Amino acid sequence: MPRALMLHDEAPRCRIADLAPSDLPHRAVSVDIDYSDLNYKDALAVTGKGKIVRDYPFVPGIDFAGTVRESHHEQYASGDRVILTGWGVGERYWGGYAETMNVDAEWLVPCPGPLSTRKAMLLGTAGLTAMLCVVRLEEARIAPGARVLVTGASGGVGSWAVSILHHLGYEVHAVTGKTEQRAWLKALGAHAIHDRADYEAEPRPLEKGRWAGAIDTVGGRTLANVLAQMDYDGRVAAVGLAGGTALSTTVMPFILRGVSLLGTDSVMIPFDRRRAAWQRLSALPNGLFERMAVDEISLAQIEERAETMLTGKLHGRVLIDPRR
Ligand SMILES: NC(=O)c1ccc[n+]([C@@H]2O[C@H](COP(=O)([O-])OP(=O)(O)OC[C@H]3O[C@@H](n4cnc5c(N)ncnc54)[C@H](OP(=O)(O)O)[C@@H]3O)[C@@H](O)[C@H]2O)c1
Repeated sequence: MPRALMLHDEAPRCRIADLAPSDLPHRAVSVDIDYSDLNYKDALAVTGKGKIVRDYPFVPGIDFAGTVRESHHEQYASGDRVILTGWGVGERYWGGYAETMNVDAEWLVPCPGPLSTRKAMLLGTAGLTAMLCVVRLEEARIAPGARVLVTGASGGVGSWAVSILHHLGYEVHAVTGKTEQRAWLKALGAHAIHDRADYEAEPRPLEKGRWAGAIDTVGGRTLANVLAQMDYDGRVAAVGLAGGTALSTTVMPFILRGVSLLGTDSVMIPFDRRRAAWQRLSALPNGLFERMAVDEISLAQIEERAETMLTGKLHGRVLIDPRR
């Protein structure tokens, strides 16, 4: 019987349950999950601090990688290695915090040859999203060598963005609130580190232009400050809300400097774009994975890590082994 982390709408919210196969959703592909991970949205779902989950009981986990156990869809066969991210899994549909889950074939991406399922979830939604942000900047003609700012740099999306941008030859500047992680961010490839507090101050309409590109995982005042610091023709991939959902700014960066705000989403991005992103991620050298900070935990440890994640105190990636 597969074990899972089940959320309930009465205390205790998080319970480890043994599921009968008949408890699992009736969907075409049954996957034995090797790894899942913890993302900001998972932390909101697990703690109940964000309105992510509406139907209970519920298995959270917005992504996983594993091996097909049984398939009733022509695209997949038993033994295939697969990745799932997004599509509302872990929000509306039962997700990856389980030993086995049944899902729709359309939600899956084949795990590219060179990538183990462990490495796939070391990246997870965070790595995929970082790559999608890089692609947004590339498509806006921000080329290697350019100065790019990354906010929330020690988080999952942020740290992968720093690593990938450095690997591709950009001059990466990292904004972080964690003085203790400065050395680690430098080891990932950050050229310079900037203090988060400087980006939480009341933003001015325009400041001296400093960045050709930016990847913002924080939103709120941080994003408003980033916009004010963009060079002429600067491009900002806006992807997160760790610091707030409101955006109070002026039109000045847009109308005087031609700055563009590039919204970036990983949840509903079409199959071809996500498969292309996974192909690029699978070609990243081993060194990037070795330098990533990893905290590997069991299903029973998720609740505590989720609480900590929302305080902004974690860094790097939290990998979940459901069989641990
Ligand atoms: N659009 C999409 O498809 C998509 C996909 C994935 C994630 N996201 C979003 O991107 C953001 C980052 O996700 P993640 O999984 O990388 O989360 P994470 O690992 O928790 O990283 C968030 C980081 O943001 C920084 N931060 C700044 N102000 C904060 C505050 N008030 N509270 C908490 N953290 C704060 C912290 O880094 P420092 O200490 O280094 O400043 C923190 O580590 C989230 O808002 C998430 O919802 C969006």
